[in-house]
Amino acid sequence: MRLKAENVFKPGAYPEYTYVSRNYENTGISYELRLKQALRTAGCLTSLIGPSKMGKTILCEKVIGFDNIVEISGADFNSNTDFWAIVAAKVGLPYKGELTTEREVNEGNSKETDSKSEKYVLAKDTVIQYYKEHDKVLVIDDFHYASKEMQTKMAQQLKDAIRRELKVVVVSLPHRADDAIRQNADLSGRLSLINIEAWEKKDLKEIALKGFKQLDIKITDEVAEQLAVECLTSPQLMQYICLSICTLLEDKNEHIVNFDMLEMAYKFTTVNFNYYDVVNVMSKGPNPRGKKRNLYKTLDGKELDLYGLIVESLAKNPPIMELDFDTVYDRIINLIPKTEGKPDRNSVKSHLNNLQTILKEKEEIYKAIEWKDGKVYVLDPLFLFYLRWGRMNG
Ligand SMILES: Nc1ncnc2c1ncn2[C@@H]1O[C@H](COP(=O)(O)OP(=O)(O)OP(=O)(O)O)[C@@H](O)[C@H]1O
Ligand SMILES: [Mg+2]
Repeated sequence: MRLKAENVFKPGAYPEYTYVSRNYENTGISYELRLKQALRTAGCLTSLIGPSKMGKTILCEKVIGFDNIVEISGADFNSNTDFWAIVAAKVGLPYKGELTTEREVNEGNSKETDSKSEKYVLAKDTVIQYYKEHDKVLVIDDFHYASKEMQTKMAQQLKDAIRRELKVVVVSLPHRADDAIRQNADLSGRLSLINIEAWEKKDLKEIALKGFKQLDIKITDEVAEQLAVECLTSPQLMQYICLSICTLLEDKNEHIVNFDMLEMAYKFTTVNFNYYDVVNVMSKGPNPRGKKRNLYKTLDGKELDLYGLIVESLAKNPPIMELDFDTVYDRIINLIPKTEGKPDRNSVKSHLNNLQTILKEKEEIYKAIEWKDGKVYVLDPLFLFYLRWGRMNG
C-alpha cells in the first residue's frame, strides 16, 4: 500500500519513516548509541538537555521503544504529589489504596458479612522492582515544568532510586534547566550528561530526501538544500514544510518539488503558527508615552520607527539565528534609501536594549529573540520563519 504524506512527515509526533540519526558532538557515534550507552550504565541518571523541538522526546522514544518507555511530564508534579504514586500509576500499579476483604460470619442462624477495609501502601521497592523486571525506563520529560520544590524532592528520590538501578532519563530545556539534577552535589558522579544540539543542514536535508523518496516524489539536492536553509535548525519545521509541499502537490496531481513552489509552500506552512502578537509587540516597542518617534521611509514604501526596522532586519536573507550587531545594523541601513537620514549605531543599540527589557517580562512565547553580549539570538526558529513568510505583505 502506498504511504500517505501525513504518515511520512510528522511535525508533531514520532516520525517513523523520516527519522534521521545524527552524530553526537562529532564523536563519530550517534545520539542513539550515546543514549543507549548511558542507559546501560548502572547506577547513573541520564540528564538530557536541549532547546525546544530539537528531538529530545523523539530520541528517547527511538532508543527506549514504545513498549519500554514510561513517559511522565514534569507538569504532572505539583507540590502535593507523591512521586512514587505517579511513577507506580503510570505502569498501572496500585500504590496507595484501600483493600476490602469480606468474611462470612456465622452467628447462630443469621449469616452476616463482615467487610474489613485496610489501607495499604505499596513500597517504593516494589515499584522499582516492577520497572526492572519489565525493562521499563522512566523518562521525566519537561522536568522544568515541575515546581522548584518538587524538583528538589524528585532529585532526592531519584538519587536513591538509581542506586537501586532504576533507569531514569530526565529531559529539560537549557538555561532554566534542571539545576536540581545537574548542580546537585549528591548526584555528582552519578550523572550521564547528554546535550542535544541544534540541527545541521545536512541532517535536516536528509529528512526531506528520505520522506519524498518514500512517497515517490522527486526532489533535487539543490531544492532540499534550500529547504534546509529555510527551516533554520528545526527538524520540526522541516517536517511541517515537507507536509505542506505534499498537500500542494497532491492538489495539482504533481510529483516533483521544484523551486517555484517553495515560496507558496512556506507561506502555506505559516498558517500553523501564530506569532502575530509577538511581532506586534516587538514592532511597537515600549509605550512611547506621547513622545514622537523618528520614522524612516523604507525602500519598499513603508514608514517604520527603529523597532519596526529591527524586526524587519531579522527577516532578511539569509535567515540566521545569531546576528552580530554589525549585521543587524547593516541590514537596517540597507532597508532605507541612500538619500534618507540614517539612524546612528548607539540609537539602534539602545532600542535593542529596550526591546530586550520588554520581552524579558512577557510570557514564554515572546522570548523568541534575545539581545545579549552584542548579538541578537533568535531563540525560536518557528518565529523567524513566521517573520519571513507569515506576514501579509512580508
Ligand atoms: N531524529 C529525528 N528525525 C526526524 N525528525 C525529527 C527527529 N527528531 C525530531 N524530529 C521532528 O521534530 C519534532 C519535535 O521533536 P521532539 O518533540 O522530540 O522535540 P523536543 O526536543 O522534545 O521538544 P520540546 O522541548 O518542546 O519537548 C518531532 O515531532 C519530529 O517531527
Ligand atoms: Mg519533548
